[in-house]
Amino acid sequence: MSTLSTTPGRIATLEAQRLLEVPVEGGFGVWLDEHWRDELHALLLACAEDVLLLTGEPPGPDTAARILGGGSAPRSLEDLFVVGVFDAGQRLAGVLVVVRDQPRAGEWTVEFLLVRPDQRGRGLAGQMLQQLETWVASEGGTAILLTARRHSPAGEGFARRAGFVASRDHPATAVRAVRAPG
Ligand SMILES: CC(C)(COP(=O)(O)OP(=O)(O)OC[C@H]1O[C@@H](n2cnc3c(N)ncnc32)[C@H](O)[C@@H]1OP(=O)(O)O)[C@@H](O)C(=O)NCCC(=O)NCCS
Repeated sequence: MSTLSTTPGRIATLEAQRLLEVPVEGGFGVWLDEHWRDELHALLLACAEDVLLLTGEPPGPDTAARILGGGSAPRSLEDLFVVGVFDAGQRLAGVLVVVRDQPRAGEWTVEFLLVRPDQRGRGLAGQMLQQLETWVASEGGTAILLTARRHSPAGEGFARRAGFVASRDHPATAVRAVRAPG
């Protein structure tokens, strides 16, 4: 396994760092970059059917690198954030990929949200989303968008439960207004 990556200065706020707090006993969160390709690849293989549903392709040798590089859309890496949650056995249990100011200023788009099957139903994704919302609100963001909800029944159920509704502006996207931190 790679060594722990240091926190880039651009996400050094307390609200951003809360995304690294995880509800997995003995687990820990890390901001992922290209050095974590192998760990992400292993997670993608463990979720091969979901990856196929979400991306239209089974995970291949380049999928992890593509996700860590922000996908196919050309955009500034400055606005791309990837959080990985590891379990007590130091295996990647979940990942959240979010892009700031996408598609519009103040809107943050979750490009990818994936939890390993044996770690599901324990509140992992829900907590990541909640902590993301706190961070987005602290940055003055107004909405969080989830893409690809159409392709995954689990993702649809999760998104509905989390209060997302279909976006009229962006097909295949669910949107939720950011609630001010209470
Ligand atoms: C969707 C996914 C990320 C959920 O991860 P998770 O860690 O199991 O989710 P949580 O345990 O945090 O669940 C949060 C809430 O969503 C609900 N939920 C989770 N999966 C659900 C499903 N398939 N159907 C309905 N509700 C669901 C939970 O019951 C929970 O509700 P609660 O707050 O009332 O208890 C996971 O199933 C996954 O990786 N799926 C494949 C990829 C995918 O679809 N990603 C989402 C793309 S938008």
